[in-house]
Amino acid sequence: MASVARGVELSNLHFRRMMFSDLPLIYQMEQRCHQFPWSEESLADCLRMQYDGWVAEQFVDKAPSPLIMGYAIVMKALDEAHLLNIVIDESAQGQGFGIALLNFVKTKAIEQGASVMLLEVRESNSQAQRLYHKSGFEVIGVRKAYYPIENGREAAMVMKCSLGASL
Ligand SMILES: CC(C)(COP(=O)(O)OP(=O)(O)OC[C@H]1O[C@@H](n2cnc3c(N)ncnc32)[C@H](O)[C@@H]1OP(=O)(O)O)[C@@H](O)C(=O)NCCC(=O)NCCS
Repeated sequence: MASVARGVELSNLHFRRMMFSDLPLIYQMEQRCHQFPWSEESLADCLRMQYDGWVAEQFVDKAPSPLIMGYAIVMKALDEAHLLNIVIDESAQGQGFGIALLNFVKTKAIEQGASVMLLEVRESNSQAQRLYHKSGFEVIGVRKAYYPIENGREAAMVMKCSLGASL
């Protein structure tokens, strides 16, 4: 997908709950977008455990049904919302879909009584870290050797965002 002016492609983006029937497509996206993707079974477990799964989709000219552009999974624990996964399909990245989806899941978390959102992100994932910084997250810790890499392990940055003040 060619890069377009921010807001043009976003105008008909909408969000809905993830369903089990979405999982085959979401799993394909997971494999395209993560070097170490979750299994389809792990994605299904999130729905079985009633974590909040959201998809961002968009009506595109001539397509009979909306296309899934990305998804996010959030686990709620007391007043904390944990962002477990967020993906925008690789052909749609860098056009503002990620920030739109993140704002949506933050709004939903606030509606459900969360006051903070927490996440872990690979030390090497500067693209995601920039998204999170832009959205008001700050680094509150580092978990050494947390994620697998080709030849060993890498650290996770733990990030936190106070909800309410950040939207
Ligand atoms: C991280 C991700 C969700 C961001 O989604 P996106 O739609 O590309 O992000 P946006 O277009 O909304 O951009 C928001 C900010 O992210 C950063 N960003 C986005 N694309 C970037 C790129 N290619 N390079 C560097 N920074 C980038 C920028 O800071 C951007 O702010 P800007 O508008 O000032 O440029 C997406 O890149 C993705 O799915 N990556 C693979 C999966 C992943 O790593 N998920 C996070 C796991 S913790």
